[in-house]
Amino acid sequence: MLCAMTPMRDDLQRIERLRELFLDESRGDRALPDYWRGPMDLAAYASVLAVRIGWKWDAALSECKDRGFARADQETVLDFGCGSGIAAERFVHHFGAREVWLHDRSATARAYACERVATSNPGLTTKAIADARTVSPDVLLVSHVLGELDDRGRQVLRELIGRSRRVVLVEPGNHTTSRRLSALRQELLADFEVLAPCPHAAACPALARDEDWCHFFAEPSQLAFTNSAWVKISKELGIDQRSLPYAFLALAHKPVETKLAAPPHRVLFRPDLGKHDARVQLCTDHGLVEALVTKRADPATFRTLKKNPESVRTLPAPDAR
Ligand SMILES: C[S@@+](CC[C@H](N)C(=O)[O-])C[C@H]1O[C@@H](n2cnc3c(N)ncnc32)[C@H](O)[C@@H]1O
Repeated sequence: MLCAMTPMRDDLQRIERLRELFLDESRGDRALPDYWRGPMDLAAYASVLAVRIGWKWDAALSECKDRGFARADQETVLDFGCGSGIAAERFVHHFGAREVWLHDRSATARAYACERVATSNPGLTTKAIADARTVSPDVLLVSHVLGELDDRGRQVLRELIGRSRRVVLVEPGNHTTSRRLSALRQELLADFEVLAPCPHAAACPALARDEDWCHFFAEPSQLAFTNSAWVKISKELGIDQRSLPYAFLALAHKPVETKLAAPPHRVLFRPDLGKHDARVQLCTDHGLVEALVTKRADPATFRTLKKNPESVRTLPAPDAR
């Protein structure tokens, strides 16, 4: 999961080129052309950017587990827009799989991901899927792809979601992509049950005002701060390792066999910390609500919000505290 050696200049240049493409906001709604020039690009990507995405998947999948997402040991898992295959890798680690299918418009990426997932999971069958228009996986994974699709890609994905039994999407926690994910959730509510992170099946309250977007922060591995290779990479690339914003959605096609009780309200974003209190935003079925956790009334939660805010996922309604 981590590049053990100090990165070569060539790797850093490859990663820099990819980051510039991903972060370019002037592109608007236009799709990116295929940017994988060969396996070396994928290897450089896998050693840094995909590792960070893997930490987001770990956070999202850990929440899925807590919300009752069942194991997938006997199931077929498809990673759509797989890149180096990090979503499949992390999913298999947390939930297992009988067979993993890797799909990407880039044949180079499909081959790279197949080999990588097979190598890290001896005994697991992997298959490159060139055309995703006819397959029907048990579990569909989508990671950091929504912002890259053109109309045709969006249609293929939308139909594929409709043919999948369970779906997990993990996307960057920026305004545009997160709102795109919320809009997709809205569209899917008729046919799918939302398993996580939403504490309700009502309309997404983050869509009510243009300035809101649903996102969370994942906790990076401690190695990001203590491993000399990571420290060098972060410095050279100007990556702030403390900030790992993501948005995610886990869904199951209706009817769902066992429904778990919905948790209390989901904490969004990061708390606004004061000396004696923390202001948090909660997602509720009647909108986004601000709650105040005070050091005096709830010292344990206040301390956790200060030290390890990502671990406080849910809180009761303000009037029930
Ligand atoms: C930012 S990368 C993310 C890769 C990987 N899912 C991850 O999270 O690390 C986006 C991937 O989507 C693929 N992609 C873009 N448009 C696509 C399309 N229309 N159909 C399939 N894959 C596509 C790209 O080739 C690339 O591998």
